[in-house]
Amino acid sequence: MNIKEIRIQYAKYETENELDSQSFQILEEAKKALDTAYSPYSNFQVGAALKLSNGQIIRGSNQENAAYPSGLCAERTAIFYAGSQFPNEKIEEMVVLARREGETELTTACPCGACRQALLEYEEKQNQPIPITFKMSKQGFVRISSIADLLPFKFDSTSL
Ligand code: THU
Repeated sequence: MNIKEIRIQYAKYETENELDSQSFQILEEAKKALDTAYSPYSNFQVGAALKLSNGQIIRGSNQENAAYPSGLCAERTAIFYAGSQFPNEKIEEMVVLARREGETELTTACPCGACRQALLEYEEKQNQPIPITFKMSKQGFVRISSIADLLPFKFDSTSL
């Protein structure tokens, strides 16, 4: 038996003003996406934005449903839209934000497991890493340079 170790690197930013200009631009779009969340059941708003290789920025927000599991997270709303409307454009970068309804302050927006799996599919499809930036409540912003880093021991097409 051997004990192995997996390490990931991430960049940490105290405030959004430390982000580079492209990430900041996408973050501003993710803020707009927060306003379109349909979250009457959780009152938790999530906004995602991603930049395509053609320069276009796609926004997505969480869309809930009375039959709870029928709703969809913001990240998948955005990436499925991008995949269906712009199948040949690469996704250059993504930002995810969250806030509780009625509050102005951002809270933690760490992508859920199902979103990691879905995002990974597109990263592998385009054969180019998708950096992702999200808010970690007290720690500021975290930027990870590849979705794969969020999902060790991934299940992907090579597993089939
Ligand atoms: N949610 C997202 O949109 N993205 C995530 O990665 C985690 C959770 C949404 C789903 C639901 O509408 C609300 O946040 C509370 O779980």
